[in-house]
Amino acid sequence: MDVADALRKLDEATSRGLAAISGASTLDELEEAERSVLGRKGPVSEVQRSLGGLADQDRRRLGLAVNEAFQKVRDAAAERRQALRQEAERAVGERDRIDVTLPGRRPPPGGLHPLTQTERRILEAFVGLGYRLVEGPEMETDWYNFESLNIPEDHPARTEQDTLYPDVPGRTDLILRTQTSNVQVRTMEAQEPPIYVVTLGRCYRRDVPDATHSPVFHQIEILAVDEGLSLADMKGTLEAFARAVFGPEQKVRLRPGYFPFVEPGAEVDVSCFLCGGRGCRVCDEGWIEILGAGMVHPKVLEAGGVDPERYTGFAAGLGIERITMLRNGVPDIRVFFDGDVRVLSQFAGSA
Ligand code: DAH
Repeated sequence: MDVADALRKLDEATSRGLAAISGASTLDELEEAERSVLGRKGPVSEVQRSLGGLADQDRRRLGLAVNEAFQKVRDAAAERRQALRQEAERAVGERDRIDVTLPGRRPPPGGLHPLTQTERRILEAFVGLGYRLVEGPEMETDWYNFESLNIPEDHPARTEQDTLYPDVPGRTDLILRTQTSNVQVRTMEAQEPPIYVVTLGRCYRRDVPDATHSPVFHQIEILAVDEGLSLADMKGTLEAFARAVFGPEQKVRLRPGYFPFVEPGAEVDVSCFLCGGRGCRVCDEGWIEILGAGMVHPKVLEAGGVDPERYTGFAAGLGIERITMLRNGVPDIRVFFDGDVRVLSQFAGSA
């Protein structure tokens, strides 16, 4: 290779290299551009390798040119490398920049579960009437849930089809309570009359879930035991409750009903809170059944150690799910247990 050719080759390689370097938009592209000119198999190295066969003067001249080419390309690459790094840093900074003047993101407001809203409303009504809140166990003995409530051993409610029997080693008398009435005799044992208590909570029955059944559901129950309490007191109390919960115009109607732990027992209807009593798709000619009630059976008073000759009492129980469904037009009980925020958020503030 003669010197002129070699110089041209260097020149050409250098300007190609510089163009590629300034056009590189990533560090990888930049490495590649630099290597294509200065790499061991590149044109500059090739010229460098040919220096050994040249005369002194030519070798010096071409040697200088080789050094110059190396220098130029390396400098340009270094400069471009720094620029690319700065650019990358700026991009990251842009992405991660925190604007401290932006207002914070508010978490979406939570709300009480629709069942809790109903529960509180009803609870407040009874507490307002002077009833005291008491609690009872969800895992209960057969005695408090059935036997003491005058529900005989052969009563269909006690079959395995209706009641959930948990596996507790060494215990055969435990069940999951099927009703909040289990608190009645417990309360009578715990205090002397006058008794005015309200209780609430989960109950369990062996039901297959469908639109109107859930194996877990909620009840509220009241119990009053005092001297001289009559059916009129019960009706007045239930009317006051209905007005507090459903509106001041409410009326209450009692129909005969059978529950083993009350005598007489009643199904209690309130005037329909959806149509105002005129009659609609949901109610039965203006009435909606919402609770069971009655005068406490003497056997139940006795089971609780209360003298039925001296005291009388009344009790009532109602299902929270049913009332919440009726009031809000909910067609399926399962939505209360699915935990779907899209559904539950529709109840925000509807208490
Ligand atoms: N425990 C009954 C049930 O689950 C409801 C009930 C009816 C409760 C009459 C009462 C009552 O206190 O007097 O179906």
